[in-house]
Amino acid sequence: MVTENRLILKHIDQSGYTPDIECYLRHGGYETLGRALKLGDYTTPEGRIVDAAERIRNEVKTSGLRGRGGAGFPCGVKWGFIDHKSGKPIYLICNADESEPGTFKDRQILHKDPHQLIEGMVLSCYANRVHLAYIYIRGEFVEGAWLLNRSLAEARRHGFLGKNILGTGYDLEIHVHRGAGSYICGEETGLIESLEGKRAYPRIKPPYFPAILGLYQCPTIVNNVETLCAVRHVVEMGGAAYARLGTASDPGTRIVCVSGQVRRPGYFEIEIGKVTLGQLINELAGGLREGRKLKAVIPGGSSAKVLKAGDRYKLKNNQPGGKEIEVGLLDLPYDADSLGAAGSMCGSGAIIVLDDSADVVAALENISEFYAHESCGQCTPCREGSLWMAKVLRRLAGDEGRKADADLLMHIANQIPNGRTICAFGEACSWPVQSFVSKFKEDFERKGAEAEAHRAAAPANIGATLKT
Ligand SMILES: Cc1cc2nc3c(=O)[nH]c(=O)nc-3n(C[C@H](O)[C@H](O)[C@H](O)COP(=O)(O)O)c2cc1C
Ligand code: SF4
Repeated sequence: MVTENRLILKHIDQSGYTPDIECYLRHGGYETLGRALKLGDYTTPEGRIVDAAERIRNEVKTSGLRGRGGAGFPCGVKWGFIDHKSGKPIYLICNADESEPGTFKDRQILHKDPHQLIEGMVLSCYANRVHLAYIYIRGEFVEGAWLLNRSLAEARRHGFLGKNILGTGYDLEIHVHRGAGSYICGEETGLIESLEGKRAYPRIKPPYFPAILGLYQCPTIVNNVETLCAVRHVVEMGGAAYARLGTASDPGTRIVCVSGQVRRPGYFEIEIGKVTLGQLINELAGGLREGRKLKAVIPGGSSAKVLKAGDRYKLKNNQPGGKEIEVGLLDLPYDADSLGAAGSMCGSGAIIVLDDSADVVAALENISEFYAHESCGQCTPCREGSLWMAKVLRRLAGDEGRKADADLLMHIANQIPNGRTICAFGEACSWPVQSFVSKFKEDFERKGAEAEAHRAAAPANIGATLKT
């Protein structure tokens, strides 16, 4: 039986563990911060002086920690893009928008262990010489925002935040900013626009890479809630020790949310690459309902490409000696390389399970309606394409489709991604369509063909066309 490896979730859901600072302190909270701020300078064998901030940055780089918000970009490398000599203020933003469907991990941290996030943020801000930081929280997380504000006030009272933190002369303020409820507010440049008080239109990269031209056109670090919590553990354990967890290119632990047609949906913290999709679904999430068989798995949030049960996947990386092996869906280790080799991704760490009772046409329609609703509308391929795909799927799911709709969907989906749009939403809305339709083409064609046969048998229905 596989077990979790709880670093971030260590205390969460333990009986008697509460989100107030007294409880956090009783469990060793803010001790890592205290130690880190007193690290002092270090002189390299070459005689270069490395101060405490740079030492923390080096630990994070050594850890290989990848961002947990979706793109999986190495955190230390991202921090390395910040120009400390630009003379501009450097900002840090915690992305607590948690808008990817299937993802519900950040909310657990915000509600149940907010001080862990604050400690991770103070460490990250100190390491990057940030004096003003924001937590951009999804508007619907009313309780989370309230708890965060209370926790920030507690941290200030205890000297972990504000002026002269722990007597070191370091000043930092953190503000909570509530979003207004839109998926695109989670995209880092849309988030920055929103934080500046504007509509959350993603910015064009280049030139608007947050590390260079971010908030108020200043260098800005945007990190996910879980990433910033992981920083706290990297500093506590040391980067090298953290890097020994997980796989060489995807180290550490991560929180995986399992939902859909499983008996025990929930969030589980696992050592990356040491637990398979099968163990996550069948052991940690309790398996499928009685008598059901697995049909498909969306392994990394709704925008990740769906994987079909019964397919075989070749894994090139991450194997001892670099050997190629072939495995089934449930034997795929949960890590970036393995899911990448299988043609999908870990994304936001959200696994959505579909059993053989699931209607894949209806499932994809549901996903595509979401994307059509959430497109910000700046780019024609995304604005028009996401809407067309939703419309075609609506008629197909509503028994008014055509057999050729499967090809039509692919035709539309293929014209949205690959650099044609300002942000990765273009990929996010087309990948589900591309993968569902190519892997379950017979389901889509059968649904369309049945509707055509129905209309042919009932001439009065012939005028049925796209609903708007
Ligand atoms: C459409 C879209 C929505 C996103 N939503 C979120 C989100 O809700 N939370 C999040 O942390 N990252 C989200 N991201 C990723 C962010 O743009 C960014 O990469 C991330 O916050 C960086 O943090 P990390 O490096 O710690 O993962 C989204 C990206 C896109 C393209
Ligand atoms: S890809 Fe879509 S969501 Fe992103 S900027 Fe363009 S229209 Fe907006």
